[in-house]
Amino acid sequence: MRVGIIGCGGIARFHVAGYQAAGVEIAAVCDVDADRGRQVAAGLGAEYVADFRRLVKRPDLEAVSICSPTPAHLEQCLAAIAAGKAVLCEKTMTGSAREAEQVLAAAREAGTIFQVAYMKRFLPAAVRAREEVARLGPVFSIQARSFQPGRGIEDSDMWRPGADGKPSWVKAMAGAGALATNGSHIIDLIHGLVGHPCGVCATVHGPADYDVEIDAHLLMEYPDFTAHLEASFHPYLKTGANRDGWDEWIQVNGRGGRVELFTVQWNEPEKAGAILRVYEVATDAETCYVFDRANGFDLEVAAFVASVSGGAAASPDAFDGYAVDVIIDAAYQAAASGCRQAIRLSRE
Ligand SMILES: NC(=O)c1ccc[n+]([C@@H]2O[C@H](COP(=O)([O-])OP(=O)(O)OC[C@H]3O[C@@H](n4cnc5c(N)ncnc54)[C@H](O)[C@@H]3O)[C@@H](O)[C@H]2O)c1
Repeated sequence: MRVGIIGCGGIARFHVAGYQAAGVEIAAVCDVDADRGRQVAAGLGAEYVADFRRLVKRPDLEAVSICSPTPAHLEQCLAAIAAGKAVLCEKTMTGSAREAEQVLAAAREAGTIFQVAYMKRFLPAAVRAREEVARLGPVFSIQARSFQPGRGIEDSDMWRPGADGKPSWVKAMAGAGALATNGSHIIDLIHGLVGHPCGVCATVHGPADYDVEIDAHLLMEYPDFTAHLEASFHPYLKTGANRDGWDEWIQVNGRGGRVELFTVQWNEPEKAGAILRVYEVATDAETCYVFDRANGFDLEVAAFVASVSGGAAASPDAFDGYAVDVIIDAAYQAAASGCRQAIRLSRE
């Protein structure tokens, strides 16, 4: 199997490592920064291709990873789908519900193997959390947070638009703020645990001269319960399960008990394993599982390669990516209008 990579920045190196671990050849890479693209290509023995349209049309490639900034995903996904390539697209899949709808429709029409890079779903602790939530339901409450290390964030040029009107680095890279950068993974995990909500309320905050939020509260309303997610940054750098400033956690409360999942810093999977705490009403027992270190990127790439090689359905797929984009879009509308947004998400 041969693949191409579009976008050779921070996240691409995890795709590269994942393909290398799976024994897949990276034959071509593309980046708008030619120096960077050529450097990465040389390191891999791959060809540098300046135009992504040419890369996706190469007949020797079966699949592409889209690792460019989120605002570029729509056009690149549509081109890759049209060229008949399987796609592993970084999250968020697109920058809005309307864009996501286009990608979903195109992928379905073409029958594309399409996976969105919500790699936390592959963590063994997250897989086990899903089993425990099903066992200890029915669910009546979810609390979740994704706080990342954020000392000095309220005075960072990365979040401030340029004097020339250009978007901040974060907006240019992720298309949006804390909800998209931190929150999207947790929204996807909650979808995987309990399905999709029927309504959304939200508030977002940030310094007045920033073009995206650095703190967001999201209420995901289900028929029988509500999930509360806060996505933010904290200046105290010893928060979280490992006291390293990575403070990301989902607590699911069911009539049969409580399940708490603590993740580890996204870009340092070798540092520690995720933690799962299970509290069971029937036995009054509390069990703490400390999982072995697991690299979610390697696991997600391996799953994608298996789908492309064996034709197994990709997951999380374009619908899952669409679902997260719908929630984020609705959250921004709810925050701007002060009104609850109804959500209608169905795979059919
Ligand atoms: N899965 C995760 O946990 C995770 C973590 C970080 C970033 N991301 C996502 O990965 C994507 C990229 O983020 P990053 O941190 O690697 O950003 P980055 O800025 O480090 O890298 C982006 C690269 O893409 C190149 N590029 C810019 N526009 C391009 C275009 N139109 N076509 C081709 N290349 C282009 C840039 O020159 C740069 O080399 C974003 O969608 C982001 O949301 C996901």
